[in-house]
Amino acid sequence: MKFFVDTADIEAIRELHELGVVDGVTTNPSLIMKSGRDIREVTAEICALVDGPVSAETVALDADGMVAEGRELAKIADNIAIKVPLTWDGLKACKTLSDEGRTVNVTLCFSAAQALLAAKAGASFISPFIGRLDDINLDGLQLIADIREIYDAHGYETEVLAASIRSVNHMTECAKIGADVATAPPAVIKAMASHPLTDKGLAAFLADWEKTGQKIL
Ligand code: E4P
Repeated sequence: MKFFVDTADIEAIRELHELGVVDGVTTNPSLIMKSGRDIREVTAEICALVDGPVSAETVALDADGMVAEGRELAKIADNIAIKVPLTWDGLKACKTLSDEGRTVNVTLCFSAAQALLAAKAGASFISPFIGRLDDINLDGLQLIADIREIYDAHGYETEVLAASIRSVNHMTECAKIGADVATAPPAVIKAMASHPLTDKGLAAFLADWEKTGQKIL
């Protein structure tokens, strides 16, 4: 499973990139707002840092507007993935932009039916939002499993990009289910390294080592 980082925070991306865990980045209008940066400027910096796809989202509501914005965003760098919402107009824009050979990430997906249409419209990525489904007491991980099953059964090549990830459990379950990609905030990716038994074991080893009076360096 590939790891994308869901942020426009360049320092957070840099830290994870140095560890070699960043296969791509996703942004959205809220994350750009949170960064306080200009979309072109911050997206260009991210694209220069990371080799994989960097999603930049359109904000028009009509297909023609999304296509125009998508073409504009794609000028930022070769590794831009144009993000369009899963609306009827978003699907039309996806078809046009995909036919032009561009990478398209169809976002705000909340059902398997929506994911089927995105695959038919030529999406490179489908982004089902796990956390926001869990928030309303639906099963976000089940949606990932359903889309995986449907895409495999019918040979769709659209990659399942699990989004709106809130926990370490979401990450491991997505990997088990067979999501192609999971995009998570930096804090969730860093939390994957933690376990209370690791901390407890390390403290015990260091206490015993102290008693030996030895040094390695
Ligand atoms: C995905 O591409 C979105 O940017 C993101 O995962 C949304 O997550 P949220 O529901 O935590 O805002």
